[in-house]
Amino acid sequence: MALGNVPPDRTLLEVLREDLGNTGTKEGCGEGDCGACTVVLGEERDGQLHYSAVNSCIRLAHSVDGMALWTVEDLAEDPLIQPVGDAPAAARQAITLHPAQEAMVQCHGSQCGFCTPGFVMSLFGMYQNHVCHGRPITRELAQEELSGNLCRCTGYRPILDAAQQMASLPGMAVNEAEVLQKLKLLRHVALAQAADSAYIAPPTLPDLLAARAAHPGAQVVAGCTDVGLWVTKQHKQYSQVLDVTRAAELRQVAQHADAIHIGAAVTLTDAFAALTAQWPQLHRFATRFAGLPVRNSGTLGGNVANGSPIGDSMPLLIALRAQVVLASQARGERQLPLEDLYTGYRQNVMAADELLVRIVVPRPSAQERLRAYKISKRFDDDISAVCLVLNLDIADGTVQRASIGAGGVAATPARARQTEAALTGQPWTEATAQRAAAVLQAEFSPISDMRASGAYRRQVLGSLLQRYWLESQGQPSVSLDTLTLEAAV
Ligand SMILES: Cc1cc2nc3c(=O)[nH]c(=O)nc-3n(C[C@H](O)[C@H](O)[C@H](O)COP(=O)(O)OP(=O)(O)OC[C@H]3O[C@@H](n4cnc5c(N)ncnc54)[C@H](O)[C@@H]3O)c2cc1C
Ligand code: FES
Ligand code: FES
Repeated sequence: MALGNVPPDRTLLEVLREDLGNTGTKEGCGEGDCGACTVVLGEERDGQLHYSAVNSCIRLAHSVDGMALWTVEDLAEDPLIQPVGDAPAAARQAITLHPAQEAMVQCHGSQCGFCTPGFVMSLFGMYQNHVCHGRPITRELAQEELSGNLCRCTGYRPILDAAQQMASLPGMAVNEAEVLQKLKLLRHVALAQAADSAYIAPPTLPDLLAARAAHPGAQVVAGCTDVGLWVTKQHKQYSQVLDVTRAAELRQVAQHADAIHIGAAVTLTDAFAALTAQWPQLHRFATRFAGLPVRNSGTLGGNVANGSPIGDSMPLLIALRAQVVLASQARGERQLPLEDLYTGYRQNVMAADELLVRIVVPRPSAQERLRAYKISKRFDDDISAVCLVLNLDIADGTVQRASIGAGGVAATPARARQTEAALTGQPWTEATAQRAAAVLQAEFSPISDMRASGAYRRQVLGSLLQRYWLESQGQPSVSLDTLTLEAAV
């Protein structure tokens, strides 16, 4: 379908349900939290079809222009999804449930059914990304990839069973060659946008910076997982949107000898994949950032640019000594330490004609010991009350260098400079760790809010430094991080 007459701030869910009458996709929270509205997008990447489950309630409709889109209605009806193998013609014509649906039936994964379309679409994404590539769906993987879908009545065990059951059912396959062909044709369709078009999505960085300079009033949007809530919950309206995610330069992860350059519009899923390839210990931290559908849309640059004091990637990037690169058409690029981006609560040094283009993350050193801790009320899919990331270079029993990023303790994501100074050059002993914990607790004056009291946050800071010390001495940490869902229920 064409999106020409769709307002720039209309969500994909509104277009699906209200404009197209595809009411199989449900609306629950309208803020990316429940997964009832999950749909699956298909994009061409290096000649292959790449699938991602996303929340349609906070995704702008125009952002999926040129992509394949599957909703729950498609699974049994899309002629491009067919049984695999020698199924008789009659069976091919009959309505066949997709393994994502059949497994939910067989495992009794649905009661009231409201959440089911969303779960089924997340399962479909898993099926395409894992089962179709011969990769097993472990319990852990199922938990991670379904963490953005909530169910109030069935309970998660049958749904996790369904995720694992899919691979044993008669297969269904997307005709990827034909989908890719259609996507290629779409690229050739003249989507030539007028200079004053309401939804601007330039394909290159120079075009993007030119558009930023020409339309300073346009709302800049990347994955829309923050901006989407301003639309659905604060009822903000945007007459013009500048989408940064089509600029190829902003979607690249480039490996350099001394650093990884992560384009600002790289999704959180891909950015964390690049980071965990270097720091495998970040896996748990990464999968606790929202749920998969949010990470599939949201970008690293969006998290950094939004500058929420309780954002999770910034404490990590500060501890990793990351730099941000800003660019404008008039003045070119400038690079600064990430913590220097922020000037106050959700305020930063970016000029009206500037954009964040990439994040430069130095490669790990041989002596460093990085640990990232996220404290939130819920284990999965929750915002941090406190986030603390410690990165100490320890050699010959001495702290050579300390980098500490903290979230939830100040008006901006912050570097714990006093604690870093208290640690640097000191022997790495329990006494040093305790002194540093006291400095860390005194360094910030966290506020009390619905997530935690200021006193609790301060206490937690000290406890986390103590935990870091104990873990550095080989003591296993007893925390929810080490529990599986089955063990926890
Ligand atoms: C259910 C849910 C759970 C969440 N959980 C977490 C969580 O656990 N931890 C966490 O930190 N966050 C969380 N978030 C917040 C959000 O997902 C992140 O902040 C995300 O990284 C935002 O990226 P985006 O691409 O969606 O940004 P957008 O919403 O598109 O943009 C956010 C802001 O950044 C600006 N912007 C975006 N890109 C650029 C650029 N290249 N240059 C200049 N400005 C730019 C936009 O103008 C806007 O002001 C959650 C959100 C939801 C809905
Ligand atoms: S309606 Fe809840 S995530 Fe979209
Ligand atoms: S089956 Fe009722 S909410 Fe999941």
